[in-house]
Amino acid sequence: MFGDMKIFSGSSHPALASGIAAHMGMQLGKSRITRFSNENIKVKIDENVRESDVFVIQTSAPPVSDNLVELLIMIDAMKFASAARITAVLPYYPYARSDKKDEARISITARLVADLLHTAGADRVLTMTLHAPQILGFFRIPADQLLATPVLVNYFRNSDLSNSAVVATDAGAGKIAGHFAKRLGLPMAIIDKRRFDDSEEAHSTALIGEVKGKDVIIFDDEIATGGSIREAARILRTFGVRRVRVGATHAVFSGTALQRLQEAELDELVVTDTVPIPIEIQQGVPTLKILSTAPMFGDAILRIHGGRSISEMME
Ligand code: R5P
Repeated sequence: MFGDMKIFSGSSHPALASGIAAHMGMQLGKSRITRFSNENIKVKIDENVRESDVFVIQTSAPPVSDNLVELLIMIDAMKFASAARITAVLPYYPYARSDKKDEARISITARLVADLLHTAGADRVLTMTLHAPQILGFFRIPADQLLATPVLVNYFRNSDLSNSAVVATDAGAGKIAGHFAKRLGLPMAIIDKRRFDDSEEAHSTALIGEVKGKDVIIFDDEIATGGSIREAARILRTFGVRRVRVGATHAVFSGTALQRLQEAELDELVVTDTVPIPIEIQQGVPTLKILSTAPMFGDAILRIHGGRSISEMME
C-alpha cells in the first residue's frame, strides 16, 4: 500500500481537475508552472510528495504538444521529488488518432506518447474512451481505460427512447455504439464513412440497418472538426430519420467545428467535459449539453489508490 494520496493539475483543464478533487473531498496539490519567453517550461512542486501516491491530471487540449511536454516535466519533477508512485491521468489521450501504421513512413504517435510517459517516470496511466482499445497495448506500465458509457447512457435513459435507434458513424465506432445500444436496449445501424486524404472531410453514402421514421442517437468517441457528425446527420436525413441526437465522449471541437455543428442542425448534442469547451461553441450551439466526468475520474483514482477494481465501474 502506498502513502498518502495527492492530486496535481497541469494547466490544460483546471476546471476538470478541481471538479475531480472536489468530488473526492480533497484539495489540489500546490505546484507552479512557468513558461519562459524562450518557450521553455519550468515546473516547481510546492509541497512535499516524498513517498506519496501522486496523480497528475492533464488532458489533451490546445496547445496539445506543449501540454504533453508540461505533463512529462511534472512527472519528472514528481519522480525526482521521491513520489512513491505516479499516475498520469489523461482524460483525453494525446495523439489518440495516430494509433496505426496505415501509410508508409508515418509515426504511430499514440505509441510514442506511451513511451514518453513511461520514460518520464509514470508508473500508471488512467484515461477515458481511447480512439481504439489497442492503445492500451502500447504501454509497458499498467494502463486503465474508463468508458464514458455510464455517464452518457444515464443521460439518454432519462429521455423518450420509444422508436429510437443507435447509430455508429463508421465501422470503427461500431463496437462502442453497440455497447450503448445494448445498454439502452435499442437496435443499431452503421454508416459507411470513408476518408480519402488528410483534409478532415468525411464522406458517407450507405447505411446498414433500419432508421426510417426513427429518432436516432449517434454515438462516437470524439468530435473533432464535426465533419463526421455533419455527414452522418445529412445521410441519416436522406434515409428518413425523425430526430438526430448525438452522444460523444471527447468534445475536441477543432478547426471549423462551430460552423459544421451549426450546419448539422442536431436536435441534441451531448458531450462530456474531458476537454475544455470553447465559449464560442457553448454559445453557438444551443442544443449542446455537457456532462461531467469528474465523479468517474474521482472514483477511479480512489479505487486505484485502494487497489480496487476499475472495470466494475463500467458494469
Ligand atoms: C474517427 O475515427 C473518430 O471516431 C471520429 O469519428 C472522428 O475523430 C471525428 O472527427 P471529425 O469530427 O473531424 O469528423
